[in-house]
Amino acid sequence: LNDKFGLSPDMGNQVWDWAESLAVHSDPGFKENGELTVTYLSAAHQACAAQLRQWMTQDCGFDEVSIDAVGNVVGLYRAQQAGAQRLLTGSHYDTVRRAGKYDGRLGVLVTMLCVRELHASGRRLPFDLEVIAFAEEEGQRYKASFLSASALTGNFDAAWLDELDAEGVAMRSAMQAAGLPGDIASIQALRRDPARYLGFVELHIEQGPVLTELDLPLGVVTSINGSMRYLGEVQGLAAHAGTTPMGRRLDAACAVAELILYVEQRAGTHKDQVVGTVGMLEVPAGSINVIPGRCRFSLDLRASTDAARDALDADVRAALAVICQRRGLQWTLTPTMKADAAPSDARWQARWEAAVAAQGLPVHRLPSGAGHDAMMLHRSLPQAMLFVRGGNGGISHNPLEQVSNDDAELAVRAFQTLLDNLAKE
Ligand code: GLV
Ligand code: MN
Ligand code: MN
Ligand code: MN
Repeated sequence: LNDKFGLSPDMGNQVWDWAESLAVHSDPGFKENGELTVTYLSAAHQACAAQLRQWMTQDCGFDEVSIDAVGNVVGLYRAQQAGAQRLLTGSHYDTVRRAGKYDGRLGVLVTMLCVRELHASGRRLPFDLEVIAFAEEEGQRYKASFLSASALTGNFDAAWLDELDAEGVAMRSAMQAAGLPGDIASIQALRRDPARYLGFVELHIEQGPVLTELDLPLGVVTSINGSMRYLGEVQGLAAHAGTTPMGRRLDAACAVAELILYVEQRAGTHKDQVVGTVGMLEVPAGSINVIPGRCRFSLDLRASTDAARDALDADVRAALAVICQRRGLQWTLTPTMKADAAPSDARWQARWEAAVAAQGLPVHRLPSGAGHDAMMLHRSLPQAMLFVRGGNGGISHNPLEQVSNDDAELAVRAFQTLLDNLAKE
């Protein structure tokens, strides 16, 4: 392998260096605390895109690099012959609030490095390699999430352009301020023709403890769990906290508290990797001496099968109705995302398995509890993912997230093997 790819030493260190350099860019309010937060089309987000574009162009030798109408950084490394089919790969460069440095980015940096090595050894593949750093996966700034991968499959909803962020900035305006057209026609034009593509592969940090517990650096994903997200609000009556007797209150926050505990209990007693989370909770304009008249919350429900997710969804919605009826409260629940479970394509999964085995490693298969861009690409292309072990017990969506340089290097080698084997097919 070494000879074929003309491997430079310290590929793991290069991934580390790039991840550190990208992490310099963070949104205001977080940057000052040394925290990493990169939300869609913020100044830090645009700086990351510019940096990725520069590395792809100047350091890696991509033939074409552009930033598309939703902010994806798209790099093309051309095949030896024109008109060849394409392999699509990549992951996202936006982050959650107070993020680690590898969720999403690892999959971009590892594939960039593979192109750098190909280019350095003057090698072309019999297929085009299209590497995408996706602009939006985490659903932080706007209700919609996975919107940049959705654009590639023709599933970008025109209504998303009118969504407002917490400051009241419409997505369309945020796009225009970032120099993007902000119209639906340019976004629809990003749809990829499945006939042109071999498939989609995504490399990603595991974000869980399984590979650490097994002492394995790499794992092959069998399926991505399905999910369902909502933003909800319960409405009661704001009243005096000192004078209103306990039995006569219409306390919106108490109803949501009951709902949260129901979600915990219902998900916890079910198999099929059923999980439920209320990650955002707010009493708008609340005061210490006012009974909560309103309570807003988010709801994230997931399971390894769509049937288990749908059953959880139905039970949670029924529980909310019962709780609010008993307490005499009104409620709304707005769906913001629904993604079905995405089983890996058998052939692409087998290719990852061969790439892992070629590193002299046991092949371990595991499902993904986290959502990924691959889940959206699944709608039009065969897809499969490779997971890389995270340090610190696999923690993610947390600044403690870590990937060792050795594991990053193995990830590069596994990706190179995948490309090499595909070139021989
Ligand atoms: C994205 O990180 C998700 O799985 O929520
Ligand atoms: Mn994430
Ligand atoms: Mn991710
Ligand atoms: Mn994610």
